[in-house]
Amino acid sequence: MKIVKTIDEVRQQVREWRKQGLTVGLVPTMGYLHEGHASLIEASHRDNDRTVVSDFVNPMQFAPTEDLESYPRDIEHDAKIVEEHGGDIIFNPEPSEMYHEGFSSFVDMTVLTQELCGISRPIHFRGVCTVVSKLFNIVKPDKAYFGKKDAQQLAVIRHMVDDLNMDIEIIGCPIIREEDGLAKSSRNTYLNDDERKAALVLSQAVSIGINLVRNGETSCEIILDAMKNHINAEPLARIDYVKMVDCRTMQQIPVLDRPALCAMAVYIGKTRLIDNFFTEDV
Ligand code: PAF
Repeated sequence: MKIVKTIDEVRQQVREWRKQGLTVGLVPTMGYLHEGHASLIEASHRDNDRTVVSDFVNPMQFAPTEDLESYPRDIEHDAKIVEEHGGDIIFNPEPSEMYHEGFSSFVDMTVLTQELCGISRPIHFRGVCTVVSKLFNIVKPDKAYFGKKDAQQLAVIRHMVDDLNMDIEIIGCPIIREEDGLAKSSRNTYLNDDERKAALVLSQAVSIGINLVRNGETSCEIILDAMKNHINAEPLARIDYVKMVDCRTMQQIPVLDRPALCAMAVYIGKTRLIDNFFTEDV
């Protein structure tokens, strides 16, 4: 397993693999890898002959008020995880390698990015679509792997690949949780002990929603109110949103009459966490 820093090195390696007739999977990450990322690497290792893991904290998807500077980074720890789970190379470029001076081309999307996280993070998905397009152009993978925890990101990337005729299969992988239910996230490291306990309201609200759907409830208002009441009872929690949307268009729906995504973003102290469930998985 090797770490490469330049676009030329990744391209060279992928070209060699292609000459040997090998298939290539890509796992895009921002590093500080945890079991959630490990499951994506394992899925790629299972499906493809070779796996590239990109490890790049993408400045373009952070607003000036967000946590770009404090976002955790540890390439040695990441290298161990990638090696243990079957990755073949880590692509770990500097921002200047990805965005040269004068960089001025962007991939943007309307509609799907204007709901959920797109409301409080208006520039986020433009940064995600741009960097993921660049990674797709650099690696040219057969398949690319994304976690369902970032459910809107997954929908946006699927839509982008479809809109722009990118010849890449997008694979969505299940949310990986801590034993007590908290969805794994690099941002969980920001939580102090009290916040860590309080953060359980997200997965507990997910369970409340799932149980209501399992019991046949179809009113989104009833489901969302039950979830919000649970979260609001926790003093350290502040809801950004809890919404039910059409899982393809990301537009809000009043009744569960189609496959839906129930998604939330909640501040625990200063840390913004997300969680969700798809009604199809219930
Ligand atoms: O999900 C992430 O970690 C990032 O948004 C991604 C897809 C690696 C793009 O920077």
